[in-house]
Formats: sequence, C-alpha cells, structure tokens
Amino acid sequence: MEKVKIAMIGAGNIANAHLASYAKVENAEIYAACDINEERLNETCDKYGITRRYTNLDAMLAELPELDAADVCVWNVNHASCSIKALNAGLHVLCEKPMAYNAQEAEQMLEAAKKNNKLLMIGFVLRFSDEAKIAMDFIEKDYLGDIYYAKAQYVRRHGNPGGWFANKALSGGGPVIDLGVHVIDLTRYLMGGPKPVSVYAATSERLGNRAFLKNSVGWRPKDSSEEDICTVEDFGTALIRYDNGAVTLLETSYDINGQDIGCKQLFGTKGGMDLSKGVKIYGTYNDYIADIEVNTNNLKDSSDMFVNEMAHFVDCVQNGTPCRATAEDGIIVMKILDAIYESAKTGHEVLL
Ligand SMILES: NC(=O)c1ccc[n+]([C@@H]2O[C@H](COP(=O)([O-])OP(=O)(O)OC[C@H]3O[C@@H](n4cnc5c(N)ncnc54)[C@H](O)[C@@H]3O)[C@@H](O)[C@H]2O)c1
Repeated sequence: MEKVKIAMIGAGNIANAHLASYAKVENAEIYAACDINEERLNETCDKYGITRRYTNLDAMLAELPELDAADVCVWNVNHASCSIKALNAGLHVLCEKPMAYNAQEAEQMLEAAKKNNKLLMIGFVLRFSDEAKIAMDFIEKDYLGDIYYAKAQYVRRHGNPGGWFANKALSGGGPVIDLGVHVIDLTRYLMGGPKPVSVYAATSERLGNRAFLKNSVGWRPKDSSEEDICTVEDFGTALIRYDNGAVTLLETSYDINGQDIGCKQLFGTKGGMDLSKGVKIYGTYNDYIADIEVNTNNLKDSSDMFVNEMAHFVDCVQNGTPCRATAEDGIIVMKILDAIYESAKTGHEVLL
C-alpha cells in the first residue's frame, strides 16, 4: 500500500510530538514541512530528516501536487487560513485544537472541506488515550446510565506558557481556549455528543503571568519574564447546559492560588466515573455502594495518544474509516468557547 504523503504546516513544539508519532505509523510519510520561522523549520526538519522545506505555504502547495494530506500545527489565529489553503489544494487535513480562532472561522473550514470533498479532522488528542477508550467501553455497556453532570477541570497553579499563547491576538484567549477545549471536548464526547443549548461563564484577568515568582511549580517556559505580553485571562469557569438536560462544569486556569488539577468526572444515574488517574467507576453493585478500579498497569504511556491520533488520521485518509474527531464536533466546541467569552464579558447567560 502506498504511504500517505503528509506535509507539516508549522514546525514548532507540538509538530515535534506529531512527527515523533508519525514515525511510528507504518503508512505515514512526512514528505515536506513549512514554517514562517526558518530557524525553527530547519531545526525540526534536521531532527526528523525532512528535506523539502518551505517558509511559504502557497509555494509548498503549488510545488508539491503529489501531497495527500497536511497536518496544521500553527498558532490558533492561523488554523483557518492554513487549513483552508490545504483543503483547497486537494489535501486531507488534520488541524490541531482549538479548531480555529472562533466558530465563524471553524465553519469556513468545514465549508472548504465539503467543497473539496476532503477530510478535516480536529486534534482532540484526549479522545485517543487508552483511558478514553476504556471509559467509552464502560459507558457503551451502560455502566453509568444517563449521564447528567460532568466536571471538567484543567487547572494550572502557575503555568502560563507565555509567547503567542498569552497574546490574545494570536491565541484567541488563555486557559479557556487552550486547556478548557480539551476537557470540554472529552466530557462531551463521553456523554455521547449532546448539543449545547446555553453557557453561563466568568473569566478573570487579575493575576497575569506572575513571572516575578522565584520558584516554579508548573509548566512554565524557562525564559519567561515580567515584560512578556499577557492579554489573556488567567482563569475561567463555566456551566455548559446541553439539550438532554446534562450540564458540564468547567474550571481552568494558567495561574491560580490553588493546586494543579487535571480532572474529568462523569456522573450518571447508574454510576459515576473519574478519569483523573486511570479509570475509576463509582457505583452500586449487589445493593452495596462499591467502586470498580480498572487495572491500567499495562496501559501504554500517555504520549501514545498522539500515536493513536496520527494512526487514526492516516487510516481515515487511506481507508475512508469514519473519523472519530470531526470538524462538526470542532465547530460545536468553538461555539461553546465563543459563548464562554461572551458570557464572561456580558455577565449573562448565552443561548446557543
Ligand atoms: N494537542 C495538544 O495537547 C497541544 C499541545 C500544544 C499545542 N497545541 C496546539 O498546537 C498549535 C501550535 O502550538 P505549539 O505549541 O506547537 O506552538 P509553537 O509556537 O511551538 O509552534 C507553532 C509554529 O507555527 C509557525 N507558524 C505560525 N503561523 C504560521 C503560518 N501561517 N504558516 C506556517 N507556519 C506558521 C510558527 O512560526 C511556529 O514555529 C496550537 O494551535 C496549539 O493550541 C496542542
């Protein structure tokens, strides 16, 4: 079988994780790469032995008609333009999360995919973890019953990534769009993909990036300084209501005076589930209150979720396998994110 010829668009941090993963996917060939930052482009291409290098996306797409697919790993503000160019050049596209800068751009991306009859997959990598697979298996076998509540927490005590992430003009926002997107999507996915109907939210911009702190407890770039731009929120919370009556409570931060939390919890009529560490199910069995803890000792390392994600993208492109992280889902999540920022600004509930 011929390998899928893929172009990386953006050759920065996450592109490196994608490239390391594609190296483990049998039918993937990284054919070319493009980045507006030549130094970064060369550094990444040297590391992965990529010889076709471009600092201009239009030139790459024009010169390499043999490409099959593109993997878009650029700043959020450029997700839509790069994806649409690649789709219009006849390529299937995997675009990193969040799908776009806002829902309107996300819809334009889906239009381009439909017009060109190409796949547009969104990088909701948590869907591809072994824990998510096990969780879905239990949910599909009805261990939880009707899920009516989810808690989605991605809280960093001190972890503003700085750079473009903290520049709203390039990122679209802070922890809500960068971290919240992951846990909003995963909880909604596990709840069976309900349609959001309303959002009530608040954000805070009081702490800034706290670059003055002398010690670090989280994920911080080593070279951050107090002069770094920070035009994004440092905290966000939201109540997202779905058409089946279920609600999700979101809590996310780059900086907060509390502990780091990475927590996904689901609560149903028959059981509850905690995905903070492995997979734990809270239930009642044989008329006793009892828990199931899935033995996950033999699960692969969590970095394998990227390998699973890339393998799925290649499989979809090559075999037409139905995509597990669709653009339609990406748009729904973007609408929730837009509504969170709108509700936080106005102080009112936003109806979707
Ligand atoms: N799935 C995850 O867990 C995860 C983790 C980190 C980042 N991300 C996402 O990946 C994307 C990139 O983040 P990153 O951490 O790799 O950032 P980065 O700054 O390390 O890399 C982004 C690269 O894109 C390049 N770029 C920007 N606009 C471009 C354009 N129009 N054409 C070509 N190159 C362009 C930049 O020069 C830069 O080298 C973001 O959307 C981010 O949200 C996802």
